[in-house]
Amino acid sequence: MIGKRRVVAIITAAGKGERFSSNQNLPKQFIRLNNKPVILYSLLTFQSCKLIDDIYVSSSKKYFDLVGQIVFKNKITKLCSIVEGGKTRFDSVKNVFRKIHAEKNDLILIHDAARPNINISFVEGLIKEAAKFGEVVPAISISDTIKKEKNNYVAETIDRNNLRLVQTPQVFRYNFLKKSYTKTRSKNFTDESSLVEKAGFKVRIVEGLLNNVKLTNKNDFELLKSLLK
Ligand code: CTP
Ligand code: MG
Repeated sequence: MIGKRRVVAIITAAGKGERFSSNQNLPKQFIRLNNKPVILYSLLTFQSCKLIDDIYVSSSKKYFDLVGQIVFKNKITKLCSIVEGGKTRFDSVKNVFRKIHAEKNDLILIHDAARPNINISFVEGLIKEAAKFGEVVPAISISDTIKKEKNNYVAETIDRNNLRLVQTPQVFRYNFLKKSYTKTRSKNFTDESSLVEKAGFKVRIVEGLLNNVKLTNKNDFELLKSLLK
């Protein structure tokens, strides 16, 4: 709760992690990283975060039991439900959103299970910003030079000053997210911020964490291993 508003967290864990492992292995969000399943890092952070009331997890049916076991073993008492994911991340989140009972001003926090390196103060900071400003996303500046490519040649150098790399958790007011789903038809969004922007609402940018790495490739695995030591 923040003031009189409930805070509901959605963890997206219904992906197959194809860039991480092309064979039919356990998806990256469930593999062990320093002896904890990747998804458990986010579950534990949200469980300990006093501002968060409920947790929903989106997963493919195949892994419902596994998620249930992880939740039970680690006393994640805030878990309300595990919801079947969809074809894309966007569909997975939407499936969960439909199941949530919330008041219009409640806050919905959406987070990728594949981003284990978050902490309570970061999450609380985002919730507090959302309570003040409405919709918020964490993002970081880019230090490399950015170029557009065409047929293996540089097509253009892009001014990086206004560019940001966007992360999760992203926090939205329930009614604004709801309105965005009904207003916007397109489904090709890689995050919910894109949907909310498209619906015409303002999304505030909050400083992200440099080490809030999304486990995508094998390289990230080694990096996260040392960061989470
Ligand atoms: N996700 C999801 N449902 C999907 C696809 C992705 O819930 N249909 C989740 C993933 O489990 C992950 C997060 O969204 O926690 C970010 O997606 P990404 O890093 O792209 O994971 P995958 O889609 O699983 O990986 P890849 O794109 O390499 O296959
Ligand atoms: Mg993906």
